[in-house]
Amino acid sequence: MNNKGMILRTPLIVRFCHVFIVILFIITALSGLSLFFPSIKAFALVLGTPQLVRELHPFLGCIIFILLMFMLIKLAHHNIPNKDDVRWLKSIKQVVAGKEPEDIPIGKYNAGQKFLFWCIMSLITVLLVTGLVMWRRYFADYFSVDIVRIAIFFHSLAAIALILLIIGHAYMAMWVKGSIKGMITGYVSRAWARKNHSKWYHDEMKDVYQAELQSKAENSTDAAQK
Ligand code: HEM
Repeated sequence: MNNKGMILRTPLIVRFCHVFIVILFIITALSGLSLFFPSIKAFALVLGTPQLVRELHPFLGCIIFILLMFMLIKLAHHNIPNKDDVRWLKSIKQVVAGKEPEDIPIGKYNAGQKFLFWCIMSLITVLLVTGLVMWRRYFADYFSVDIVRIAIFFHSLAAIALILLIIGHAYMAMWVKGSIKGMITGYVSRAWARKNHSKWYHDEMKDVYQAELQSKAENSTDAAQK
C-alpha cells in the first residue's frame, strides 16, 4: 500500500515483463501471420523484410516463452481454481451484464482471468514445442516430413487461438475500468479492489491492519518504557 491508500496489485518486475510481452507479442504475431499469408506484405514490414521475419520470428517466440514462464512462477499461486470460481462461472450472465454478485468472494484473479492465464501458458508451450520441431535452421532436419507437417498444423492452430484470446484479454482489460491503470502504475484504489476482487482486498487489508496494530503496540511499549 502506498501513502495515498492505494493497494499494490502488480509489482514492478511483473509490469516490466508484461510490457515486453505485449510489444514482442504484437511483433511476433504479425510476423507469424506474414509467414502464413505471404501475400499480405504489410505484416512482414513489422520486421523489415520476409528474410528477417524468418530469422527473427522463432527467437522472439522463445523470448516470449521465457517471459511468460517468469509470469507463471510469479502468478501461478493466484490462479489456482477453487470452488468460488464455479459459483462465479454459474453467475456469468450477471457478470457480463455488469452486475457482479457481491456475495462471491473473488481472489486476486477471477475465474475468467484464471482460465485465460492457463490457456495462455498452455498455448505458448504448444507454440514453443511445435515451433522448435519446425525450426528449419536448427531442428527440423531431425524430424520426418510428416512430424514437421503435424507441428506446422498445431503451431498455426495454437497461434490463432492465442491471438484471439489476447484480443479478448485486451478487450476485458479495457472493459474493467482501472485495470489498465493498475497494470501501468502497479496500484489500484481500495474501492476498485473491493468491487472487483473482494477476497483479495480483505486479505490485503488484513495485512495492513496487522502492521498498523503492531506498530501502535510497539509505539505504546516505547512510550511506557520512557
Ligand atoms: C494490448 C494488449 C494487452 C493489454 C491491454 C493487457 C492488459 C492486462 C492487464 C490490465 C492485466 C492485469 C489484470 C488485473 O490486474 O486484474 C493483465 C494481466 C496479464 N496479462 Fe495482459 N494485456 C495485454 C497483452 C497481453 C499478452 C500479449 C499476454 C501474453 C501473451 C498477456 C498476459 C497476461 C497475463 C499472464 C496476465 C496475468 C493474469 C493472471 O495472472 O491471471 N497480456 N494484462
